[in-house]
Amino acid sequence: MNDLRQRFQDAGQGHVFRFWSDLSPGSKEVLLAQASQIDLDLVALHKGLLASGHSDGDDTQFTPPALFPARPVGNQVKEAEKAKARGTQLLKEGKVGYLLVAGGQGSRLGFDGPKGMFPVGPVTDISLFAWHAARLKAAAARHNSAARWFVMTSATNDTATRTFFGEQDHFGLPADQVHFFSQAMVPALDLEGRIMMAQKDQVFLAPNGHGGTLHALATSGLLRLAMDEGIETLSYFQVDNPLARPACPLFLGLHSLASAGMSSKVVAKTDPHEKVGVLGTANGKLSCIEYSDLPAESRDARDDNGDLVFRAGNIAVHALQTEFVDRLTRDGFDLPWHLARKKMQVMGEGGQTESQPGVKFETFIFDALAKSKTSVTLEVQRELEFSPVKNAEGGDSPATCRKSLTTMFGGWLEHADLPTPERGADGTVRLEIDPGFAEDEIEFLERLPATPEDLGGGSLYR
Ligand code: UTP
Repeated sequence: MNDLRQRFQDAGQGHVFRFWSDLSPGSKEVLLAQASQIDLDLVALHKGLLASGHSDGDDTQFTPPALFPARPVGNQVKEAEKAKARGTQLLKEGKVGYLLVAGGQGSRLGFDGPKGMFPVGPVTDISLFAWHAARLKAAAARHNSAARWFVMTSATNDTATRTFFGEQDHFGLPADQVHFFSQAMVPALDLEGRIMMAQKDQVFLAPNGHGGTLHALATSGLLRLAMDEGIETLSYFQVDNPLARPACPLFLGLHSLASAGMSSKVVAKTDPHEKVGVLGTANGKLSCIEYSDLPAESRDARDDNGDLVFRAGNIAVHALQTEFVDRLTRDGFDLPWHLARKKMQVMGEGGQTESQPGVKFETFIFDALAKSKTSVTLEVQRELEFSPVKNAEGGDSPATCRKSLTTMFGGWLEHADLPTPERGADGTVRLEIDPGFAEDEIEFLERLPATPEDLGGGSLYR
């Protein structure tokens, strides 16, 4: 104990034990256990970054990536067909595993529980987790293979997530095919670089960002398990986007044909002022350029077609080779740290909970793109693949997400000459097609019964 306290003292973090004499024996144990897990070298690195005022990944020279377009033309049509065939083959051979990140705190949404439990079905109110699970289950049935699903949580929501999956019988997926693992947590610092306290006996810890996925996957042993089971590609997606299509043959196929280590799906940014990060090369390395880092000249530049040059809006959908992840994590590869300045509810000097400005430290998955020798960037249609639930209200909220789902499904019905539901009193249509019924419009049309009467009283859509 003395040794540990001395190490904190030497690192200028002795205040972590400030309330020691007030603590019960049990609380002392809690604090010691937590403190012994803290990497003080990492805290010192974070303190240095804070003092220098820079993120670890600051860059200045930008170029846009080559895009495979959402609507292929000329030779690309053949290329897309070939890629779809390759992707389908990989899915059939069970070489694809699904990697869902759900370790975030969902602070903007303000939902009490893991974000994956948030009800998103426009009619059924099924949760985001259930929505994704239905898609994976359907993909497994379509390709006659297993849906091996790796779900990343964090200490803040691990138990609640596992419990929810258990209560819902893993949404009909075999329990032994769903694997949970938890990302690491790192201390938040105050503006002077001192570790913040959440309670008298608890350090204020926050998840280390979605970049923590790769290390956590490796250290949990699940990367090895995936490789041993013949999984070559991990299809990465985020819990808050129900339009994500983790079993997309085109994307998986393009990634495979290019022998890429890590690839991305993007949506076209049309308004230069939309505050979304764009994929691009920064000082020679592919990554995601924050809206605020892109100089106005690059941000506003347009090509001969009038499209934005930097339009590859990041939607955090990736394909990663397991071998690539293995190589990165085996060599002790570290992703750059990003600083997020926020007000936090912490334990103040006087032993009262109070709101204080502080800094959280996160790594981002897209920074791993820099390590991939080859990478495919596939542009997809925003209205078909991206509508996240981030905020409680306004843009990217439950309301906009449900509207996106309803609008997409409405389009499918219209093209199939099927009646769409009446508008409700509030002027909105509530419509939901079982996410397990069809991956996209093509499959929806293929699977439709011969006549609308055969729909069985609307059991396919509600
Ligand atoms: P966001 O960056 O939108 O964060 O995460 P969030 O935690 O969901 O919400 P806010 O910012 O607190 O409001 C995008 C995705 O990355 C995951 C989230 O669960 C979400 O699927 N994520 C984020 C993690 O898994 N771990 C993290 O440390 C951060």
